[in-house]
Amino acid sequence: MKKRILTGDRPTGKLHLGHYVGSLKSRVELQNEYDMFILIANIQALTDNFNNPHKVSSNIIELMKDYLAVGLDPNKVSFILESDISEIADLTIIFSNLVTLSRALRNPTVKSEIIQKEGEFEFDKISIGFLSYPINQSADIAAFNADLVPAGEDQESIIEQSREIIKKFNKLYGEILNLPKIYLTETPRLVGIDGTNKMSKSLNNTINLGDSEDELKSKVMKMYTDPTRIHKNDPGHIEGNAVFLFHDIFNLDKDEVKNLKELYIRGKIGDIEVKEKLYKVLNDFIAPIREKRLALDNREDYLLDILRDGTKLGKKIAHETLSRVRDSIELNIINK
Ligand code: TRP
Repeated sequence: MKKRILTGDRPTGKLHLGHYVGSLKSRVELQNEYDMFILIANIQALTDNFNNPHKVSSNIIELMKDYLAVGLDPNKVSFILESDISEIADLTIIFSNLVTLSRALRNPTVKSEIIQKEGEFEFDKISIGFLSYPINQSADIAAFNADLVPAGEDQESIIEQSREIIKKFNKLYGEILNLPKIYLTETPRLVGIDGTNKMSKSLNNTINLGDSEDELKSKVMKMYTDPTRIHKNDPGHIEGNAVFLFHDIFNLDKDEVKNLKELYIRGKIGDIEVKEKLYKVLNDFIAPIREKRLALDNREDYLLDILRDGTKLGKKIAHETLSRVRDSIELNIINK
């Protein structure tokens, strides 16, 4: 039997290059070998957007377009809408008994997200729902009995917490749930165009997979480079220079990259030239994705059908898992 993958995304915006290198790339590669489930986490997205549910609902179709445009094949992958799998909510409640408050507060990803959003870690600004989204995510993973979770580096601490919860569950109630592992790519994190350490829609520093040529060009042209360099013939710095970090990842002509770096360090080439080359590299990468994405623009029914089929299968699997879970904690009293 094929091993199972479960991974997912919050539908809160278009997917970007950070998602691509951190997770989408490995999903496309692994879809042939694994039984793959991709969850559109619209319940998790509400933990952050409860005051704006339309932002979440309107991005579901956009996410489906991104998935198909990067090459995920609906004949191989099941796409699932989280809000239609009530078993995940049931399991979240059950799991929440296995997590202490101090453990929930200690999750470094949650912590840094709160500080990024609120500026500080203040109890009266943190909802229970937000604090416990890693518990909900553990339920996502466990409900499908996943073996592997391809995800970016920011998800590592959440998958670690999922493993803890599942181990604790199995210890208490028997070997009911699979213990999942994270699958990191060689580039589990991408810098933003502003040079900060993470490309993220909430930091407004992304290059999206569907960006037009003009959008891409203007983003590359304002990319963070070397703040110490004022004139073209000043010696330049490569470390921490976003333009070169992107060249390193996306430019397949390694000799060209090496040459550009040498010229840059010696003050023999300007930022604009290095950026123009990067624009070409990124546009070659994005153009086919952009084209496929545009072709899906008027195919909402087709995309919803795919999501409906995947959700149906997902529901069946989650239901099977939950009936074993319910048995193990003696909840099946009147429905044996
Ligand atoms: N937290 C993930 C993100 O923000 C999205 C997600 C929800 C997820 N459920 C998941 C990822 C289950 C992996 C497995 O990107």
